[in-house]
Amino acid sequence: MVILKCKNCGELYDIFWHGECGEGECHECACSGMEKAEIQTADWKYEKHVPVVEKTDDGIKVIVGSTAHPMEKAHYITMIQVEVDNKLYRQYLKPGEKPEAHFPLSGKKIKAIEHCNIHGLWSN
Ligand SMILES: [Fe+2]
Repeated sequence: MVILKCKNCGELYDIFWHGECGEGECHECACSGMEKAEIQTADWKYEKHVPVVEKTDDGIKVIVGSTAHPMEKAHYITMIQVEVDNKLYRQYLKPGEKPEAHFPLSGKKIKAIEHCNIHGLWSN
């Protein structure tokens, strides 16, 4: 899966299959300046945007940041996504909610991605 970002307005698009170029028109601003969105990563101990994956009795809990990321209207986590053994799961979040998500599933290979409305995409 590829996530594209409009160079003009910043809108994000999931592309589950993108052929050869992955380019397209942004439906929000109708420009054609799409680029592959950069997914940043860092040590979760020092960067509050890195999703931390914890196994629970009934699944997986993903928390954004070793110290909780802000969830205010102007600055918040919009979604948390996990890819587990080639399956994709996503929880959308709103301001005021906790920057975390619970997924009732298990798997061997777990990759988590979150999106901050100001600081972009981050992965573990
Ligand atoms: Fe942020």
